[in-house]
Amino acid sequence: MTYQNYSLKQLQAIDAAHHLHPFTDHKDLRAAGSRMITRAEGPFIYDSEGNEILDGMAGLWCVNIGYGRTELAEAAYEQMKELPYYNSFFRCSTPTPVLLSQKLAEIAPPSLGQVFYGSSGSEANDTAVRLVRYFWQLEGKPEKNRIISRNMAYHGSTITGASLGGMSGMHGQLGGAVPNIVHVMMPYAFELALPGESDHAFGLRAARAIEEAILEAGPENVAAFIGEPIQGAGGVKIPPASYWPEVERICRKYDVLLMLDEVITGYGRTGNWFAAQTFGITPDTITTAKALTSGYQPLSALLVGDRIAATLVEKGGEFYHGYTYSGHPVACAVALKNLQIIEKEGLVERVRDETGPYFAKALRERIAPHPLVGETRTIGLMGAIEIVKDKDTRERFQPGGSAPVVIRDHCIANGMMLRATGDTMIMSPPLIWTRDTIDMACERILKGLDLAEAELRRK
Ligand SMILES: Cc1ncc(COP(=O)(O)O)c(C=O)c1O
Repeated sequence: MTYQNYSLKQLQAIDAAHHLHPFTDHKDLRAAGSRMITRAEGPFIYDSEGNEILDGMAGLWCVNIGYGRTELAEAAYEQMKELPYYNSFFRCSTPTPVLLSQKLAEIAPPSLGQVFYGSSGSEANDTAVRLVRYFWQLEGKPEKNRIISRNMAYHGSTITGASLGGMSGMHGQLGGAVPNIVHVMMPYAFELALPGESDHAFGLRAARAIEEAILEAGPENVAAFIGEPIQGAGGVKIPPASYWPEVERICRKYDVLLMLDEVITGYGRTGNWFAAQTFGITPDTITTAKALTSGYQPLSALLVGDRIAATLVEKGGEFYHGYTYSGHPVACAVALKNLQIIEKEGLVERVRDETGPYFAKALRERIAPHPLVGETRTIGLMGAIEIVKDKDTRERFQPGGSAPVVIRDHCIANGMMLRATGDTMIMSPPLIWTRDTIDMACERILKGLDLAEAELRRK
């Protein structure tokens, strides 16, 4: 790479002049200059100034096997030499998506053995909506096309993804969302549980908001409910144990399809291959991406349930849908190698039996007592730290969302990458983290919290 010939200042100037970034205030970026990440190894990323930063976000919820895995580079190189690209349209196939589909069918819940590929989670959710609505058309119920989602959901950034999502800021910029998508309450007990309401009762109440939306529209008009098993970008909102089984019961009762968006939770994050297994539910579709290749290649896989697949095959004729890169041979070769490594190193079991419980204990015992922390919550290697001004009353700093940004910046300056979203700090580290890495993360987060507290209380 020739970037070494450029100084940081030069790279920042070119970045500012020509590069429009995702989810970025460009005026702000141009004033401050971008942080240039130039290399990574294991659990660490390094910036252009040589600073080592422990990556508590696995890139963007994706680098589950950590950085610097030459086996994945070799898999891509070998595949590129042999067949860099061919499409899967018009009765063609290439070997790596075929073998990857077999592997995915092996690790997915038993009735979700068919796969449709794309390059991103957003694309996969577009596919899921197309497929679900087409399914009901084929079943002779074209009016059954409403989709129920949730406030603060994140399902991607295409027009369909943003319409499914429940982020008001994103909706505000859409200039018109995809029609017939409605949003209900999220299962976020920290803010929404009533005084004295148990977690169990709150979980049931949040699930029944879906039932109310189904009844309001009429079940004959509702195609599906879509949800992230744990709302990730919305603040790692982990629902009570009562929630998902009740959601599944309601969907089955009214013959509403259940779509799980596992773009973040898929491939080991919660201590099972999929969070559907963690919560003991069987959806009709599972959207996956990100950790399918540990982020080394862009690839998404929509896992499609038998019921939908059977109708599509028997009655669907040609499905007028697909992407140039559906089943990209190089991305699929990398995914196969990635899944092999996860299996060989027992990473899913390690999260379930060792690092997940240790992470939960570490956050609970070391981070939760901090004066700025209202609650910590974890599932597998996914965590949230709720930031409050007052531990007893749960009063937040004003304006909302301002304090976590201060904490995040102190954490990064102290070698710890985590993310601020609303009033919550969130974490989703690589699954290669050990007890030692968790200890290191806690020390750095505590330091960031202390420095931020001094600054916030001074204001
Ligand atoms: C739950 C969920 N769904 C969909 C997406 C969109 O994926 P992508 O950015 O690959 O389009 C994301 C991205 O973070 C996500 O968290």
